[in-house]
Amino acid sequence: MRTKIVAGNWKMNKNVQESIKLADEIVSELKDLTLEHTRVLVAPPFVNISEVVKITEATPVEVAAQNMHQASSGAYTGEIAAEMLTSLGLQTVILGHSERREYFGENDAVLTEKVSTALDHKLEVIFCFGEVLADRKSGKHFEVVAAQLRNVLFELSPDQWSSVVLAYEPVWAIGTGETASPEQAQEMHAFIRRMIADHYTQELADGVSILYGGSVKPSNAQELFANPDVDGGLIGGASLQATDFVALVRSF
Ligand code: 13P
Repeated sequence: MRTKIVAGNWKMNKNVQESIKLADEIVSELKDLTLEHTRVLVAPPFVNISEVVKITEATPVEVAAQNMHQASSGAYTGEIAAEMLTSLGLQTVILGHSERREYFGENDAVLTEKVSTALDHKLEVIFCFGEVLADRKSGKHFEVVAAQLRNVLFELSPDQWSSVVLAYEPVWAIGTGETASPEQAQEMHAFIRRMIADHYTQELADGVSILYGGSVKPSNAQELFANPDVDGGLIGGASLQATDFVALVRSF
């Protein structure tokens, strides 16, 4: 059975005190929940990761990073290396978020390097991709998504895919209150899985968790997560409030 995942991407929100409070609340609200085949992750800002790791140690909540640099170390002022993340005990990094692509110029070439560095350091990658509104309006969304996947991930060996989680995040649905309909999400997720099956094997494709991201909230999570190819969500806004976030975990 594929692993279900709810991951909270806190983006550039929550100072250290607020991060501690939110992590505490999430841990405490999850205490009575039995999580079977379900993983819960939070991705705080870098400077707050250590504190959140302390709070979530020995709980089912995992901590992920929102980004990392492609080089292993060196003169890259202001950047964070994979080894710094693993030395904190982190096992997962989010890469390719549309905000990184849009505001920080991350392209397929950079992301290919980042994915490779992350996997070399035994980090699991949550790889984000998705079309912008103009692509969808012009009917190019499948083509765009296919290229994003193919250009960065299709040189990976089959073994490396055991450390990859996909997050389809249509850019027009991120932080906009607009959500892909359950049908649109399922259609794209099934397309993605078919692409992987065609390039690798059906068995490999069936094992890859594909998350949906874009204005997931307690009121729409259940119908999105009920789709056979939607294995959970990467959550922005609704992950900043413990009650909402935990409600999403309960939505499977
Ligand atoms: P929202 O849930 O705020 O739309 O953000 C989604 C997202 O970008 C998660 O990475």
